[in-house]
Amino acid sequence: MKQVDPGRNFADWREAARSLLESEVPPAEVIWERPGQGSLFGAAALAPPPGRASFKVPAEFVELARSAICHADPRRWALLYRILWRLVKGGEKHLLEIVSDPDIARARLLAKNVRREIHKMHAFVRFRKIGETDAGRERYVAWFEPDHEVIAAATPFFRDRFANMDWSIFSPKGCAHWIDNELKFTPGVATNPCDNPDELEEIWRTYYRSIFNPARLKEQMMKSEMPKRYWKNLPEASLIPELIESSCRRVDDMLVEPERGVRPAPNNRYLKGLQEMSAPFGDGTAPLERTPLADLSRMVDACRACPLWERATCAVFGRGPENARLMIVGEQPGDQEDLRGQPFVGPAGQFLDRALAEAKVDRASAYVTNAVKHFKWEPRGKLRLHKNPGRAEVEACKPWLLAELNTVGPAVLILLGGTAAASLLGPQVKVTQHRGLVAAPHLAAKVILTVHPSYLLRIPDPARKEEEYQRFVADLSLACEPG
Ligand code: URA
Repeated sequence: MKQVDPGRNFADWREAARSLLESEVPPAEVIWERPGQGSLFGAAALAPPPGRASFKVPAEFVELARSAICHADPRRWALLYRILWRLVKGGEKHLLEIVSDPDIARARLLAKNVRREIHKMHAFVRFRKIGETDAGRERYVAWFEPDHEVIAAATPFFRDRFANMDWSIFSPKGCAHWIDNELKFTPGVATNPCDNPDELEEIWRTYYRSIFNPARLKEQMMKSEMPKRYWKNLPEASLIPELIESSCRRVDDMLVEPERGVRPAPNNRYLKGLQEMSAPFGDGTAPLERTPLADLSRMVDACRACPLWERATCAVFGRGPENARLMIVGEQPGDQEDLRGQPFVGPAGQFLDRALAEAKVDRASAYVTNAVKHFKWEPRGKLRLHKNPGRAEVEACKPWLLAELNTVGPAVLILLGGTAAASLLGPQVKVTQHRGLVAAPHLAAKVILTVHPSYLLRIPDPARKEEEYQRFVADLSLACEPG
């Protein structure tokens, strides 16, 4: 039997595993052990044999091992070496694809737990200011208690975001320090050295209180997303029981008083303006006043005009300049938009961005929104599958869309797909028949009707997809043409 020190990180383990592989030591003959773990003999760091052999392993294995190696499971090094051996010496080229293989299943699970904890660390580390350096850089500290050895893997995120200050993250599993633009790691510390409450805590508490929306409280989900063991290190966590209790009261109050003035009236003045076909809205002599987008956004967030709000994370309001020359209207937010609160940031949004760039249309200067502001979905296993909004939901949301149109007053309006067309042009208008420029001067001087990017994403045949994509780009380019 050979006792081997796996080292402190992925690079150390890789070096040791490589030496073992070169010396043809089978996994069953290796005991992986960190020094000081009570072995009789003490594990040795392996010296590489003279003249190195070269092995090829799939990049996917490197990724898997890089994450799984951070797990606290003491069998992880042996597990990864066994997989490596099977790939290289056992000729099991497709091993990684066999998800039912016990080694692969276990390694994937470890890697998943580690990725999850890195994500938690990004979300739950709270820095406290402790002063300034002599050079005038602000100095912050934080404490985090991970289950796994994620400090090194999670730290680049903080370096990229907080590059202009000096900070240290202390943890029992290792400490990271960003000082004078240099990242350093030191061994873990057993107890929190920065237990010194300061005003930063109060800022976090205030911030947390202000973003807390009782109607969105899903206590179970909150506990699983923000596990209780992390609470003690979050300054705002002491507010959680109080907020949960008061949220129940506030939600009850909302139910007793369901409308709170946010349900758009059926005879909504924007709708009336549209029906009268006067430009831009209203009776043609006095244009309707423009409600600032920030106010509209707040109202939409509280809208209860149809049931979609109940299952959505938030209302996704439009984004872009209030005086944009171009307004783009999609259907409804998708899964990612619902989580991030912004329109067209998921796969359809990325596809749209690509086409807009090709059409030389600048998305940043456009106002982008949707006909329906809440995500309609149905569960399919762990996924939330998009469901088309119904006529009633499109109608319920239409006053908000018209209000956005009235405020922005774009010269050019692009309608993406049937729902946007049905909302603003009526259900009789079909993309297949009326695609291209349509005459609707009550909406904007130039109105372009085209397909929705999700439709293009679903076309299976690559040649047809490309052809349709080029048509889509040509439609979008109409926005730049004069007249
Ligand atoms: N599809 C839409 O219509 N809108 C979005 O915001 C995202 C996907």
